Amino acid sequence: SEPIPSPPSYPIIGHAGTGVYDPVASAKSRRQLREKYGSIYRLNFFGREIIFCSSQEIVNELCDESRFQKEVAGGPLEEVRNGIHDGLFTAFGTEENWGIAHRVLLPGFGPAQIQGMFLAMLDINAQLLLKWERFGPDHVITPTEDFTRLAFDTIALSMMSHRFNSFYMEEMPPFCQAMTRFLIESGVRNQRPSMIQNLMRAENAQYEADIKFMADVCDQRKHSREKRGKSLMVLVVVQNRKSHPTSKKDLLTLMLEGRDPKTGRGMSEANIRNNLITMLIAGHETTSGLLSYTLFHLLSNPSTYSKLQAEVDAIVGKDALQLAHVPKLEYTQAVLRESIRLNPPAGMISVSPVEDTVIAGKYAVKKGAMLAVDIAGLHRDPAAWGDDVEEFKPERMMSPHFEALPVIFLVCVPPDRHLRGFSFQPNCWKPFGNGSRGCIGRPLAWQESVMMLATLFQHFDIKFDDPSYKLRVKQTLTTKPEGFQIRTIPRKDAP
Ligand code: HEM
Repeated sequence: SEPIPSPPSYPIIGHAGTGVYDPVASAKSRRQLREKYGSIYRLNFFGREIIFCSSQEIVNELCDESRFQKEVAGGPLEEVRNGIHDGLFTAFGTEENWGIAHRVLLPGFGPAQIQGMFLAMLDINAQLLLKWERFGPDHVITPTEDFTRLAFDTIALSMMSHRFNSFYMEEMPPFCQAMTRFLIESGVRNQRPSMIQNLMRAENAQYEADIKFMADVCDQRKHSREKRGKSLMVLVVVQNRKSHPTSKKDLLTLMLEGRDPKTGRGMSEANIRNNLITMLIAGHETTSGLLSYTLFHLLSNPSTYSKLQAEVDAIVGKDALQLAHVPKLEYTQAVLRESIRLNPPAGMISVSPVEDTVIAGKYAVKKGAMLAVDIAGLHRDPAAWGDDVEEFKPERMMSPHFEALPVIFLVCVPPDRHLRGFSFQPNCWKPFGNGSRGCIGRPLAWQESVMMLATLFQHFDIKFDDPSYKLRVKQTLTTKPEGFQIRTIPRKDAP
């Protein structure tokens, strides 16, 4: 076997703190490293080794779940566990609670459930439109912030029947702020040796306070009159029962009443709380990132902008958006697929071999080794995508079979499934992760994003505030455009 390439390193610290890999700009570091060392290279942080992989050939192997499983230990996700423990996103493969929660919650993301969220999604969507309309063309808008409000409020309303009302707040909701600080700190802690970590008193106190605050919001103990009152989860469901005797089957109801078909067990109260926070963590920054990058690409590529607007005019016109429009917005969906190819908000996933093995026919890796999939790198592998990888071309994402598929399939089946009908190579597009540990929320994010783009283009002409803006990236656990600002001009012929 051959050695895996690696930059020069120091004794003990390895590559930590050397500037080779910057934990608060890791997407940028990965780009520089793959340009210099190729599609597989090795880094070492205080003796802990991570092997980064970005070619379709290698990633395709890593997606084989019989050989590789999601790795939580040793990466930033292990730190995120401090806040959400064995919630779906951060559970170890061996933890029983992952299987129970996965089987109990999966039906909550089925086609009928996602379609049933249409009105709740439209409610929050309308709040954003109204805000931008009221601002008018003279106001500079930071879309990332309002898309974060949109994603955050949409998850809470459509899945938990809870309103955060973040469009009515000047600042981001306190829960959102606590979560963002928590995620940034989790990423940084991952690179600090524990000896140094223990000395960082102020950071540690803030970190603990943020974790407690998030848990308290879910329990709503702080906000309820009686200190030991019922938790938010229970209250909401009881209220729903009173007003809708037929019982609403939202995510919260599944959490409280669902039984795992395999073990017959339900979710514990702690596990419910961990998964409530998990959904908000996993779903709001990613969806906001997707929408923000998409807007950036559309503004940077005027022909795609016009094509999308023409599609919205032809399909939605001046009507109120309906669920039936969503699957017909074919070009809009191609735009989203291409945007998330170039800028996947979740830039990295990690797996580990279940046995000692050899990858790419020549690199030996041990059982338990940490292999990181550099998703942005994968999405730019010229062997999989051709020489125009850097270009924003939604046309490459138009399926020849698209129109032949039944409507329900298009709305709710994970978008990468459509891509299997293409001549693409397997596993070359992985913005939602892989296999059983792939994103459970993707049909929700997808429907919401198509709806948002369609209504935005129906209502507004959109411009860069600064036409010379060049994409900069801000990173927490995910990435988003930084400093990206726009102006929106209500369309004269808007509905
Ligand atoms: C997992 C991306 C939206 C909930 C994942 C993973 C990725 C991802 C890459 C795999 C993580 C890993 O392997 O470590 C995205 C993107 C989104 C999005 C790009 C939006 C564009 C959402 C939404 C929700 C959600 C809206 C919830 C409502 C989850 C959960 C997991 C997950 C619970 C863990 C699944 C498991 O391991 O069982 N997501 N996500 N995501 N996502 Fe998403």
